[in-house]
Amino acid sequence: MDIREKAEGVKDQLIAWRREFHENPELTWQEERTGNRVAEELEKMGVEVKRMARTGVLGIINGEKPGKIVALRADMDALPITEANDLPYKSKNAGVMHACGHDGHVAMLLGAAKILNGMKDDIKGTIRFIFQPAEEIAQGAITMIEEGAMDKVDAVLGIHLWSGLESGKVSLEPGPRMASTDIIKITVKGKGGHGSMPHQGIDAIVASCAVVNDLQSVVSREVSPLDPVVVTIGKFNGGDRWNILCSEVIMEGTTRCFNPKVVNSLPSIIERIAKNTAASYRAQAEVEYTVGTPPVINHPEVSRIAHDAVEKLYGQDAVADMEKVMGGEDFAFLCDAAPGVMAFVGIADSKKGTDVAHHHERFNIDEDALTVGTSLYAQFAVDFLSQE
Ligand code: NI
Repeated sequence: MDIREKAEGVKDQLIAWRREFHENPELTWQEERTGNRVAEELEKMGVEVKRMARTGVLGIINGEKPGKIVALRADMDALPITEANDLPYKSKNAGVMHACGHDGHVAMLLGAAKILNGMKDDIKGTIRFIFQPAEEIAQGAITMIEEGAMDKVDAVLGIHLWSGLESGKVSLEPGPRMASTDIIKITVKGKGGHGSMPHQGIDAIVASCAVVNDLQSVVSREVSPLDPVVVTIGKFNGGDRWNILCSEVIMEGTTRCFNPKVVNSLPSIIERIAKNTAASYRAQAEVEYTVGTPPVINHPEVSRIAHDAVEKLYGQDAVADMEKVMGGEDFAFLCDAAPGVMAFVGIADSKKGTDVAHHHERFNIDEDALTVGTSLYAQFAVDFLSQE
């Protein structure tokens, strides 16, 4: 039996797991039930389990002979969203929902562990199953790394089910695939006064509006047009009353980018613009720039192995071309720890209503895609470990 057939053989189990996790979603850093159930299922299979990163789980399969170490990763956390789907396995936790497909990731990786454990007499090397918490706030991957999950790992595969891609197709192009995600906080300080006598104070609102406008020139005038960048201010707070001059504005935003060199240049550019623009209005700006996740960059050789695995499983037509994604992923940290590939597995089927945007209250996945993810995890591990 090949891996595709083995994945078909566990399909009912994949769906049952996915529905169980869907029904019991848990927020970031609260994935206790999920982590416990994952550990329980792995132990039932006879897979070695280590608990780490509070709610995280590391499964380990040692093959018959020593060899390389390959890691497979799934994230486990849900989102603070009230589910609007009417499903028999709808979320039982009020205000919490698996609206990003992480329930499917957990099910698929458990399925791969089951298949690979049954093949371990033929495996040379070690397979690690990383069930990480806290992806949505980009802390889980780092914590798993700090606690040793990626020590000596030679390659890592992460899968994201993707509603922007036709169900059954897989995208695993080499190079940048997901953007960096950094956070900007700018405090602009002026001087209060009466709204009727603005010249006696320093209006922090007018200065801040100018800062927001001038930040638009980062993309248009500071960075090469060949490097896509986003600078968004999403929060802007200041002022107390209609006739009082505002003395302080606090704004927050995010930057997105694929080129690590550009990522590194953004803090100083943003600080220069914010400070100088505010100064030209006699105000002062303080910039706090928090580095979040780096861009996810697929390693050419590792993504080729994953690409060939998909072709072997489902033929050439299953490999899709997909545009890069401006969203971020803390899988980027795992790719920094070892050569890695993030594969997008399509779930979009308009007839099934599984083409809704991620993080939407009606998000749902096409469960027929679960076998695709499971077989890709398993085939990639086998193929990577059998390479010389
Ligand atoms: Ni996600």
